[in-house]
Amino acid sequence: MRILITGSPGTGKTSVSKLLAKELDLELINVKKIALGIKNKKSEVDVRKLKKIILTKIKKKKRFIIENHLLCEFRLPVNFIFVLRCRPDILRRRLIKRKYSNKKVEENVLAEMLDYCTQNVVNNYKLKPVEIETSKKRSTQIVKKIISVINGKTTGDKVDYSKYLINYARKGI
Ligand SMILES: Nc1ncnc2c1ncn2[C@@H]1O[C@H](COP(=O)(O)OP(=O)(O)OP(=O)(O)O)[C@@H](O)[C@H]1O
Ligand SMILES: [Mg+2]
Repeated sequence: MRILITGSPGTGKTSVSKLLAKELDLELINVKKIALGIKNKKSEVDVRKLKKIILTKIKKKKRFIIENHLLCEFRLPVNFIFVLRCRPDILRRRLIKRKYSNKKVEENVLAEMLDYCTQNVVNNYKLKPVEIETSKKRSTQIVKKIISVINGKTTGDKVDYSKYLINYARKGI
């Protein structure tokens, strides 16, 4: 079983993936480490290079979890794609706490309001993404939900944060 977890920065991918990997006894592939090694001078990651390295790494692996926000940018051969979603106001608080610059916080919050990751998965993958609403949930609850989806006992969540865009537009951020 190959599970991919993506979503905007700060939505809880790493926290959830670590728990899920333990629960399902799957290897957790560290994409952040690979991405760090291929950053250019502007601190951007070459996603084509990243895809190539990941494809080589997973070629012979059948059971793993792979997580990163960049995984929505290109297609990987997996069985499940989960997009973790988090309410923009909650996400903003988390990113501020992380000492992100104001610009970076707002960029990421806007991306979450616009379903950026989900839309990218829809465009880049043949497999349909399963969205998981994580706001106000503990990582353990989120893991339980993901396992239920994998077992076919439940479906993903319907997420719509478009109403947050109104305030966003009014403030003129
Ligand atoms: N379910 C949750 N409830 C409350 N806080 C959470 C939850 N999950 C994660 N967090 C907190 O949010 C922050 C981001 O979590 P995490 O590092 O798991 O996100 P991420 O999606 O992996 O981010 P990145 O894309 O930057 O790696 C951390 O400070 C973490 O403690
Ligand atoms: Mg992470």
